[in-house]
Amino acid sequence: MRQKCFPPFYVPIDGFTLAQNYTATINPGLEKVLQKEIRNFGAKKVQLFNGGVTFKTTSEKLYTILQKCRGASAIRWNVDNFKATDIREFFRKLERSNWEDLLKKGTVVSINAVTHKSRLHDLRDIEKAAKDAMTKMGYTIAKKGQDSVVILVRFVDDRANISIDIGGAAFYKRGWRTHAGRAPLRETIAASLLNIVKFDSDWDGLSLHDPMCGSGTFLIESALMALGRSPRVGRSYGIEKTGKFDEEKWQAIAKAPDLVLNETLDFLGSDIDENVIRYAMGNAQRAGVDQCRFVARSLEESCLNQNSKWIITNPPYGARLKKMAFIDPLRAKIKEGSRVFLLLPRDYASVGRSIARFRNGGLPVAFVELEL
Ligand SMILES: C[S@@+](CC[C@H](N)C(=O)[O-])C[C@H]1O[C@@H](n2cnc3c(N)ncnc32)[C@H](O)[C@@H]1O
Repeated sequence: MRQKCFPPFYVPIDGFTLAQNYTATINPGLEKVLQKEIRNFGAKKVQLFNGGVTFKTTSEKLYTILQKCRGASAIRWNVDNFKATDIREFFRKLERSNWEDLLKKGTVVSINAVTHKSRLHDLRDIEKAAKDAMTKMGYTIAKKGQDSVVILVRFVDDRANISIDIGGAAFYKRGWRTHAGRAPLRETIAASLLNIVKFDSDWDGLSLHDPMCGSGTFLIESALMALGRSPRVGRSYGIEKTGKFDEEKWQAIAKAPDLVLNETLDFLGSDIDENVIRYAMGNAQRAGVDQCRFVARSLEESCLNQNSKWIITNPPYGARLKKMAFIDPLRAKIKEGSRVFLLLPRDYASVGRSIARFRNGGLPVAFVELEL
């Protein structure tokens, strides 16, 4: 059944401690996967809306979610929600939150406004008022292109929801995928699909093979997942600029030791294109996962073997897919007991059991378990 569809700015916050109400976003169609992931971190009241979830949690769990969550494309802290029908009321109410506790004074901020069915309908007016209010309270408005903490103002039906992007740069920007071939899969989507397989089965570890691996996204994400590490490397987070940020707690989570991997686990990628294999190797190196192996080989010659229990891949769209030319060589390589997951345009979903449907780069796609 399709989940109840309401945007995050409709979530009632009366009775919540404002500091505990968060929103995580994801591609529509994958919300339930994110719900499960966020619940597994111990968050409470994880509620679905079209395009994400809202949740409540303690600061320690929030820090873990920010560092370790794989599926979310952004995480925001909902700091206020009020009615405002004219710009002066908006300005006045924006000032009423205890901003010093929310964001360190002097922080460079930018404003991102959206408005729908509201008397305040001019985005320039809303953004100007928000910028004026923030400047008055001691914040610096970002110049074009300058790094900043984004404050989102979302008006719907005359109510403004104010939230702070505590993730920072988009979460799919992992920091390690600097090189990719054509049509690389967004990292947050790859991670969500891996989560589906993990949540859905008796996944014994995370040993995985991708015979059309491109830049290695599935394999690098799954190795990081198996190690229990953050999927993101070398980046800062908006939360670090918040008023009560606890550096010690944050670092304790960041420095937690890796999970011990079973020695038989294998993350193997192959691709017909030698260049993308070089990219994949470099990406794995930047991600710090020497558990991944990559070889330049066609699907027909790929080294899927008796250990290839879990196979996950997104074949190239276009002419080759039209003939489903990859299916026969793939089937020929699959051993008994293997499970094969494919991300395909939705028109081709009938090759197997459809597990998730969503849009990828504007195209309707299905995540399918191949029927063997
Ligand atoms: C959609 S891309 C995969 C993207 C990858 N998931 C990523 O995130 O970078 C499809 C890949 O299939 C590879 N490919 C196409 N035909 C192939 C074949 N016959 N054997 C192996 N790989 C092939 C292409 O070189 C391309 O890298």
